[in-house]
Amino acid sequence: MTSYPPAVSLREVGPRDGLQNEATVPVGARVRLIDALSATGLRRIEAVSFVSPAAIPSMAGAAEVMERIERRPGVVYSALVPNARGAHDAVAARVDELEVVVSASETHNQKNVRRTVAESLTGVYEIVELASAAAVPVEGIVSTSFGCPYEGEVAPQRVAQLAGHLLDSGCAALSFGDTTGMATPARVDGLCDALEAARIDVLAIGLHFHDTRGTALANVLAGLARGVTRYDASIGGLGGCPYAPGASGNAVTEDLVHMLHDMNIDTGVDLDALIGCAALAQALVGRELPSAMLHAGPRTRLVRAS
Ligand code: COA
Ligand code: ZN
Repeated sequence: MTSYPPAVSLREVGPRDGLQNEATVPVGARVRLIDALSATGLRRIEAVSFVSPAAIPSMAGAAEVMERIERRPGVVYSALVPNARGAHDAVAARVDELEVVVSASETHNQKNVRRTVAESLTGVYEIVELASAAAVPVEGIVSTSFGCPYEGEVAPQRVAQLAGHLLDSGCAALSFGDTTGMATPARVDGLCDALEAARIDVLAIGLHFHDTRGTALANVLAGLARGVTRYDASIGGLGGCPYAPGASGNAVTEDLVHMLHDMNIDTGVDLDALIGCAALAQALVGRELPSAMLHAGPRTRLVRAS
């Protein structure tokens, strides 16, 4: 029988990765959602990004969000930053951890941050310097790690090579993003193999899946089988762009927690409180979210016999 880790650490990314793809939600509502999430036992929340408001209008007001949230002790509030300007603003807003993203594909990197991959890597170095002066750790994220919507297949060896560059630039941790839901369990295995071949510690990586093609939870299971203990997920399955056909949100946090708890894998999270947050997220965006927990409830929820 496959053995899985006894506990995992989840990062809730709905307030950033999720909401950045939804019609703009007011700052006060974003604060409410983050505060509700931090009360569930979640220990890591990607709260905002410090990016150009022209590029991502729905993330405007990041500093105000950070100012207004209740800082629950023990919770790490992180922010994605694309450049030194973003890193500077995030540090000033007392963000606990920064995330920098480099795409494994040139075309995606150009579309996302209007730079070559080489330029992004130089920028990472600058961001790490700025953050470490303030003792703020930086996580390096390789996006399109399992495929690119513009270029197709991405070689796992290329992803491993980029990950090595991120570590060399001073990133304290690594995550791998399945930006458009192209991962399958076989691809997760393939990436873990390539990382091991490059002598990167698979047990320390984080994985970030989107459920675009229905494989997010299966991919987590593949990661668990390799001993990976850090996963991103988004409340209610927030995310996906209503204007981009087929795009969809991250692995659904409450569906993932429901599955993990039934496997005796500890998350430290209260499932009922999380389902309450999913209902709140659904109300905030005003559309039905893909959460199975919202639709069907936990497997032990009884239905009246008569
Ligand atoms: N925060 C706020 N504003 C920023 C900024 C930041 N971190 N970085 C740049 N800007 C502003 C500039 O001040 C400038 O404003 P102006 O037009 O009013 O003068 C404008 O954005 C353009 O700046 P420039 O340096 O020329 O950037 P660009 O147009 O080449 O865009 C990025 C590059 C990286 C700033 C932009 O593409 C971006 O923010 N991307 C984020 C993408 C993202 O979050 N993706 C999420 C999925 S990982
Ligand atoms: Zn994502």
